[in-house]
Amino acid sequence: MSKPAILIARAIFPDVLHRLEQYFEVESNQGDEIFSPEELIRRLQGKEGAIVTGSSRINASVLAACPQLKMVANMAVGYDNLDVPAMQAAGVLASNTPDVLTETTADFGWALMMATARRITEAEHFLRAGKWNKWHYDLMSGADIHGSTLGILGMGRIGQAIARRAQGFGMEVMYHNRSRLSTEQEAQANQARYVSKQALFEEADHIILVLPYSAASHHAVGAEELAMMKPTATLTNIARGGIVDDQALIAALRERRIAAAGLDVFENEPAFAPAFLKLDNVVLTPHIASASVKTRRAMANCAADNLIAGLLTGQAKNPLW
Ligand code: DGY
Repeated sequence: MSKPAILIARAIFPDVLHRLEQYFEVESNQGDEIFSPEELIRRLQGKEGAIVTGSSRINASVLAACPQLKMVANMAVGYDNLDVPAMQAAGVLASNTPDVLTETTADFGWALMMATARRITEAEHFLRAGKWNKWHYDLMSGADIHGSTLGILGMGRIGQAIARRAQGFGMEVMYHNRSRLSTEQEAQANQARYVSKQALFEEADHIILVLPYSAASHHAVGAEELAMMKPTATLTNIARGGIVDDQALIAALRERRIAAAGLDVFENEPAFAPAFLKLDNVVLTPHIASASVKTRRAMANCAADNLIAGLLTGQAKNPLW
């Protein structure tokens, strides 16, 4: 019997590719070309399954052009690149990679928040540029993390993992989310306190964004929310770029209406507003929150497990519908 044909839309670990080749006729993209929507459709012709990342949009027009498609496994926990209702209507299975990246992403959220609050990249640039010629009582002074108030917008698995880490820093944790956690979950999340979005923006010393991106969360942080923040507060985004209105953030940072921002995600990645490069109170990283060696491999294997289960048994391990 011939093996089902699949597309792996971006480069992947070679051993995961070889594992998939045991089950499928694989078209891979180890050269890591970014496919245009037209090229993606062309490559998907005759394919029953695909492994994609955020750079591939699976929407109604892709589904209409690829009627043989049965399953798409997203190699990410966020799946704003998949039109899940359209996939469900077309009977195309969809999956993501939850759990395997939770702790690594929470670690990175902390790293970025701390680098932002304590001006670590700005200080390193200063030193590398040969500008350090004396100790000074106010050189690169930043905001304390310990004993401060952490505000988490979006309290799913990653938000809760970030909250747990706050215990070691003696922080108070407040959060806002579509729904409130159970009392037990709040206790495990370092006694996190459920507050309104307004209270979170007004009261937190460090705000971290970990909510999913959707039409509802588009520019959820804009001029209004930034105006509520303390001038000493920081904003860290490890969710999706479209959650923040970049122009409003650039203005707030430039006018020092907030202290600093840490951004791992951007609205039109890999492009980003060039104005960020002119600001010294922003830390910029290239969407690497889940990028530990161990976790990226776990994500690839999780996507592969989903595709194998979905195409062979009709039931993905981490189904989205
Ligand atoms: C995710 O898993 O959603 C990440 O953003 C991808 O690296």
